[in-house]
Amino acid sequence: MSNTIRLKIRRKDSPQSDSYWEEFEIPHKPSMNVISALVEIARNPVNAEGKTTRPVVWESSCLEEVCGACSMIINGKARQACSALIEQLEQPIVLEPFSKFPCIRDLRVDRTQMFDALKRVKAWVPLDGTHDLGPGPRQAEKDQLVSYDLSRCMTCGCCLEVCPQVSEHSDFIGAAAVSQVRLFNMHPTGAMNKHERLDALMGPGGLADCGNAQNCVKACPKEIPLTTSIAEVGRELTKRMVEKIFG
Ligand code: SF4
Ligand code: SF4
Ligand code: FES
Repeated sequence: MSNTIRLKIRRKDSPQSDSYWEEFEIPHKPSMNVISALVEIARNPVNAEGKTTRPVVWESSCLEEVCGACSMIINGKARQACSALIEQLEQPIVLEPFSKFPCIRDLRVDRTQMFDALKRVKAWVPLDGTHDLGPGPRQAEKDQLVSYDLSRCMTCGCCLEVCPQVSEHSDFIGAAAVSQVRLFNMHPTGAMNKHERLDALMGPGGLADCGNAQNCVKACPKEIPLTTSIAEVGRELTKRMVEKIFG
């Protein structure tokens, strides 16, 4: 590897402004990832033409692929910047913000729609006060294993970014929230609100809008079985609709 790294970054100065490309050349250090390359640019914001520029804006937190905050498009693939090692990327390394979320500035997007989707499906187990209720119901080990896989979702947005049904013209809730419905409906206590969660997936923007393209499951960095969740929740939804029609 040469002793410099070349990056090409899609930039945007404000939510309203047009985006433009800017290139950077920074010194290569061992074991760098995309976040450390962005830190290097922030430390010395000079572009490849030698002109001082505005430091690039991005978001990150955990730095260990757990929070999802640093998600962006890296060389055409939706993934996390903190786990993208420079040594493994072709150069120039092309960085772009997600296209399915409003861009706040440069590589930083607003993922509020994902958190609103979790609220819409009540992706939690409600608490009945803080008094001691004794041990809760037990969950079979096979269900615990499935739940663990589903609980690894970090609301990163990769599954929405690649989904052809998610766009500014659609209200489709996306695979992540559907999978969380499966998770909380499987929970022995969470199942009390099962019908409310299923009802939230009926109608416009609900599960019927999924076109079954299966891009989501391939893009999920946590390997969550999203299409299995979609099929499973789809079956529950059909039963719920029949119940509602015939009482
Ligand atoms: S199966 Fe296809 S349409 Fe459905 S959520 Fe996944 S990517 Fe989107
Ligand atoms: S389901 Fe996977 S791709 Fe989608 S938000 Fe969760 S972790 Fe990210
Ligand atoms: S900083 Fe949390 S996933 Fe990258």
